[in-house]
Amino acid sequence: MTLPGPYAIQRRHWLAACASAALLPASAHASLRTDITLRFSHVVAEETPKGLAANRFKVLVEQRSGGRIGVQVYPNAQLYGDHDEMQALQLGAVDLVAPSLSKFGRIGLPEFELFDLPFLFDDLAAVRRITLGPLGQKLLDGLQHQGLVGLGFFDNGFKQMSANRPLLEPRDFVDLRMRVQASKVIAAQMRALGARPVTLAFSETRRALAAGVVDGTENPVSNFWTQAMHQVQSDLSLTEHGYLGYAVVTNQRFWQSLARPDRALINQALQESLAFANQIADTQNDQALQALRLTGTTRIHVLSDTQRTRLRLVVKPVQQALAQRIGPSWTRALQEAMRQTSA
Ligand code: LMR
Repeated sequence: MTLPGPYAIQRRHWLAACASAALLPASAHASLRTDITLRFSHVVAEETPKGLAANRFKVLVEQRSGGRIGVQVYPNAQLYGDHDEMQALQLGAVDLVAPSLSKFGRIGLPEFELFDLPFLFDDLAAVRRITLGPLGQKLLDGLQHQGLVGLGFFDNGFKQMSANRPLLEPRDFVDLRMRVQASKVIAAQMRALGARPVTLAFSETRRALAAGVVDGTENPVSNFWTQAMHQVQSDLSLTEHGYLGYAVVTNQRFWQSLARPDRALINQALQESLAFANQIADTQNDQALQALRLTGTTRIHVLSDTQRTRLRLVVKPVQQALAQRIGPSWTRALQEAMRQTSA
């Protein structure tokens, strides 16, 4: 079987997985179910880091299981969106979701909003030292209290600000109605800038911008571009002020119902897909920015260091909002982790 282009590098993994599966005793094969279809629901377009990771996961699982395990991906909130994807997962209506880390606060895990702190991370390497370290594992472990299993983190990238005016100085944000994810830390960020946060589902954002229900929003360029927000936003300001990442989550009952070899196969395919997403995330955002420049619909503003410093100073009080939100234990753990990452 010739693998299509980009998956060629997975050949060695695929052959190794087939070889190890072939070593399983016949009884093991006999006990493996042939009726598994994993339902993976997410809210973004396919041509985004998350969309491409989900599709890569599908290919790897179906190849390595010889088609015994199917994966059905539902992108663009086709099946479930911000309002109901977590509940659908907890009820077993879907098997995998990959929400933004900003969306865990509302299911009783406010500590995930530490990722929303503006200007916390200087680069993706600093983020990965959190997500791949003990603090990241402690965050994922907390999902057990919600009947969920956290399977791993991955990046989209850094968020930019958009509106129908340049957003370069704090005064530019005053009185703007800015769409935000359901995160109290992001809402505090917008209020610190003098804007008014409006929580809306991702799938409703483009429509709300077009109708003037909100004036602007924030997201990495890959989301801005693939949702065609450039058609209703005249200015994109490259503030790089915050991080957007994801956690892949499954339902505990479902995960434990899988035979051990199937769980191993699915998890291995997922980890490789998350690593793939981290490899392409920067490129996806760069390509989206390039495409945006070519359309000419939206003025793109690069902020000076002085302008970013002024924004950073204005949003500094959000640190207190985060500390109140997540409590002293998580705050200390974050400070310790950030000290180590800066070492
Ligand atoms: C948003 O709601 O803006 C993002 O979480 C969408 C996504 O999942 O990337």
